[in-house]
Amino acid sequence: MWEELTKAALEILTALSKSLEATTGIESDSIFWIKLATVVLGLCAASFSTFYWGRKILRDKIQQVLVDPEAFWRKPPTKAVAKQYLARQAHSLPIITIANYKGGVGKSMIAANLAAYFDIVGLRVLLIDYDYQGSLTDIVPYADPEKMTFSAHEILKGDKSDRHVTEPHRLGKSYQRTAIHPAEATLSRIDSHLIYQWLTGGRTDDIRFNTQAYLASAAVRAKYDIVIIDTPPRICAATANALCAATHVLVPTILDTVSSRAVLRSVQMFIDFREKLGLSFKMLGIVPSRVTNSRTYSNRESKALEYLNEELASRFGKIPNPITGAREPVIALAGLPICNRVALLHIDGDDPGIFKETGGDPVIRAMFARLGNHVLEQIGLIRKPATEVVPDADIRTTPTVINFGVRAGASAG
Ligand SMILES: Nc1ncnc2c1ncn2[C@@H]1O[C@H](COP(=O)(O)OP(=O)(O)OP(=O)(O)O)[C@@H](O)[C@H]1O
Ligand SMILES: [Mg+2]
Repeated sequence: MWEELTKAALEILTALSKSLEATTGIESDSIFWIKLATVVLGLCAASFSTFYWGRKILRDKIQQVLVDPEAFWRKPPTKAVAKQYLARQAHSLPIITIANYKGGVGKSMIAANLAAYFDIVGLRVLLIDYDYQGSLTDIVPYADPEKMTFSAHEILKGDKSDRHVTEPHRLGKSYQRTAIHPAEATLSRIDSHLIYQWLTGGRTDDIRFNTQAYLASAAVRAKYDIVIIDTPPRICAATANALCAATHVLVPTILDTVSSRAVLRSVQMFIDFREKLGLSFKMLGIVPSRVTNSRTYSNRESKALEYLNEELASRFGKIPNPITGAREPVIALAGLPICNRVALLHIDGDDPGIFKETGGDPVIRAMFARLGNHVLEQIGLIRKPATEVVPDADIRTTPTVINFGVRAGASAG
């Protein structure tokens, strides 16, 4: 191709030189060389500036991801992508994303046990572990551990069709209706690679909506009633995907000073992300997690809760949903705490503590039943008072063991 282009350029130059010679009387040979030199210099300048500006644009983009990742991820989608998002969201399964950029607050523990509770009440649950640390993957038991494949990254990569994603692995022990896309450390590498491709134009689609596309597929919608996505404590392609797919976001926090400040920053980022991308997810609220005492809040926890309530009311008390326009204040679910229970830590391939087969920890069952029922009410899967629809006898008859004084319904505002 280059040969042909050079030949054509030379032919044009020769013809131009000849016509110029005829009109000016200057020798056509000299004109030809002057013109050739001008063209070569022009080409060099064009190549240099393309290289320079290309490099600068790429450098600026990389700098943005590293220096201000939030701003990078908040880039508004194109009109076509936004339209596609809304069309899919209108028919979406309930998708609960569990998120907080503060680490160690109990996100994975709550994901595993909420899934167990939804399973107990008869829902078919799909879990996605989007944390490269794989904590959720480690907590749950597998139907056939030998055959378990780490498939969360396949959804993140987004091959457009669910046929390219390995079937989620079925859970074992007491989980009867739950499956999981497990994760391992390579998820982090794949996440970075995806960002690199998106930055350099290797991917022209909007990688933030890959998970939503997968979960909107007919096959997934036919097999599951509810999806829970566990996220890492930072913004990355996986977290952006979990937020873009979510219909609801649940934010666990520990009730101490540092965690309370951190959770407010996280909520602010989720709200900004929702606003800039035009997403419709609802904030389910902030769950007090790893609370020290199963009956009352300690003084320090009460103070942290008071601070949280005040700040939430002033910062997010009147936030409208960007799609529905409904005012949805972000609230602390003070009556639905998850307390610290040693029994939750004894997993070792067994059921998480919520199931009755483990010998029974009524406190664990009661607290996840309350939180689970509240979530189901909020997403519209149950409408009656929760205790009437829980089929598991143990859970139905469990007395209110944690006397926090605020009913689930009341805390939902
Ligand atoms: N209710 C609880 N009772 C006892 N231990 C808990 C409870 N919740 C969480 N833990 C323990 O606290 C640690 C952190 O919990 P978890 O991994 O669920 O937090 P996380 O928010 O998912 O962390 P990361 O941000 O790193 O993913 C784990 O060792 C977990 O076993
Ligand atoms: Mg985790």
